[in-house]
Amino acid sequence: MNFHGKTIVITGTSSGIGAETARLLRQQGARVIGVDRNDPMITLDGFVKADLSEQSTIDAAVKQLPERIDALCNVAGVPGTAPVDLVARVNFLGLRHLCQRVLERIPEGGSIVNISSILGAEWPQRLDIHKALGETPTYEAGLAFLAKHPVPQETCYQYFKEALIVWTLTQSQKWFLAKGVRMNCVAPGPVLTPILGDFVQMLGQERVQKDAHRMKRPALADEVAPVIAFLCSDASRWVSGINLPVDGGLASTYL
Ligand SMILES: NC(=O)c1ccc[n+]([C@@H]2O[C@H](COP(=O)([O-])OP(=O)(O)OC[C@H]3O[C@@H](n4cnc5c(N)ncnc54)[C@H](O)[C@@H]3O)[C@@H](O)[C@H]2O)c1
Repeated sequence: MNFHGKTIVITGTSSGIGAETARLLRQQGARVIGVDRNDPMITLDGFVKADLSEQSTIDAAVKQLPERIDALCNVAGVPGTAPVDLVARVNFLGLRHLCQRVLERIPEGGSIVNISSILGAEWPQRLDIHKALGETPTYEAGLAFLAKHPVPQETCYQYFKEALIVWTLTQSQKWFLAKGVRMNCVAPGPVLTPILGDFVQMLGQERVQKDAHRMKRPALADEVAPVIAFLCSDASRWVSGINLPVDGGLASTYL
């Protein structure tokens, strides 16, 4: 993969999967601009410190981003141990708002990659409500929808990853046809990053033990980053509207 001459914006670059993706894409020649609420721990070509949970702070961050963005990777996310309102804002509403705001800067052939999760796999069970949320046109309208359709704390992480998958899949073809911009999800299974302990707390020991027997080990962040890079690259130019699992085969054991 060759990213020379490409400018790529990545959120969540101050930790875990986002940091590894930034490192890899820079090695392959990309100019990488990171966005995170925390300071970066690696070398980047530019960095915007921003809280991606608020519409106003996302708008302010967008003003500091380059005029041309060849790819946008939405990696920043919070676990289900965070309050449900924050999970909704960071993992779905804010991510969607950033895509909508940045779209006009992505040229034909560009790409958006959203990080979902294996925990969003049950989206078909709630397809109608996820479609309805996805059809709300704005961040504020999404908040109003959620006020009328509250989401339980216990399953909010799964819910908003499901919503992200459904929105990505349904929105992608509209943008691909109209603008030539592809949009896909990458769905990791457990990954050894600082957030993993929160997932264990969120799911409970019983579920974690059940999954532990189904897989070799959690992934390393540098086993997920190349898949994100592939979906940013020209090599995937005819891939759009998919949710690609990167889980060492874990999902297939639930068939
Ligand atoms: N680690 C896993 O097991 C796993 C599994 C499936 C999916 N994921 C998803 O992968 C993505 C990356 O997770 P990770 O494992 O690298 O976690 P991480 O905690 O290591 O990194 C998350 C990054 O997002 C940033 N972030 C969080 N809230 C933010 C906000 N409001 N504004 C700006 N930045 C914010 C954090 O500062 C951090 O740098 C997340 O979307 C997560 O849901 C992780």
